[in-house]
Amino acid sequence: MLANQPSLTLYFLPLIQRLWPGFLPGLYRARLVSQQWQTTDMLLLTVKVSERWTGFVPGQHIVLTIKNNGRYLSRPFSICSSLKLWQSQQQIQLCCKVNAMGEVTPLLAQLANASMLNISLAQGDFHWQQPDLPAMFIAAGSGITPVAAMLLSQRHWLAPVTLHYRCRGAENAALLTALQQLATRQPLFQLQLSDSRVEPAAAWQQQLIADISHQQFYLCGPAAFMQQQRNALVNAGINSTAIRQEQFGVAMSGPADPEADASTLSGHFIRAGTRIAVSLNRQQSLLQNAEQYGLTPRFGCRVGVCFQCVCDKVSGQVRDIRSGDLSGHGAEQIQLCVSQPVTELVIKL
Ligand code: FES
Repeated sequence: MLANQPSLTLYFLPLIQRLWPGFLPGLYRARLVSQQWQTTDMLLLTVKVSERWTGFVPGQHIVLTIKNNGRYLSRPFSICSSLKLWQSQQQIQLCCKVNAMGEVTPLLAQLANASMLNISLAQGDFHWQQPDLPAMFIAAGSGITPVAAMLLSQRHWLAPVTLHYRCRGAENAALLTALQQLATRQPLFQLQLSDSRVEPAAAWQQQLIADISHQQFYLCGPAAFMQQQRNALVNAGINSTAIRQEQFGVAMSGPADPEADASTLSGHFIRAGTRIAVSLNRQQSLLQNAEQYGLTPRFGCRVGVCFQCVCDKVSGQVRDIRSGDLSGHGAEQIQLCVSQPVTELVIKL
């Protein structure tokens, strides 16, 4: 198995974690510096990041991983602070929407000061492409976070920029003070706040469309909101290549497997010495496949970050959902949550 392993990290992980509790490959330690409520449900976390962390392009996000009851939980959050804060103090800020019914975000409000967290490298390609062209930013809800990072990081303003920020009143507009201060000191930046409780969506959209002298458009907010704004801009004659929007979350979009279809493959899961014959859906992860058979493999993040779903592949080939990379056919360790079946498989849970 050792010889088949493309990376030795998975193989030696239990040993490494025994020597160095909390170690997660590919993640970086970050210490919580402060928490501050921005609105009733938006919590601003300031963290000091490890010196090994390589920085970010404003607009990018990280995956934050915390441990709760022995299980690692991960969620992506956009960085909302300026590049200057990281460069001068090695700190970044995350403005997190706390969903009281969620599994992860309520835990953020309970973190003790100086708690150690884990963050991934910065990811994503949502960033300000050409600051020398007039730009319109359109944001709603927590979609303001990457937009704020881009605007607050800008040092040399070269062209007019308008931010249309749609929210349920100023009291529900996270990061508003910093953006208002920016609008006061930077004549090329205009902030337009729209209160969704009093201004109907159609009237607000008319205003956006009436003001399309801009050459670049950046959208960030709930998926349905972004789709509506995109449609309105395209219908108003904006070329879709001028519109960029955040694809929030961990990329799980490796090159498609040309052979893959909805068909199934036969396989076996081995649990406690018992071999269970299964039919594996090629489009689903092995974690989902196992769960459909009522098996309950250990998992944490479900996006390939925490390594809690690592188990032994006895034989067969899998594809990494993120990168499209194919494994070998022999025995090795794999992450169930980011592996899809390619051939018949035997997996020891
Ligand atoms: S569940 Fe976290 S890596 Fe698979």
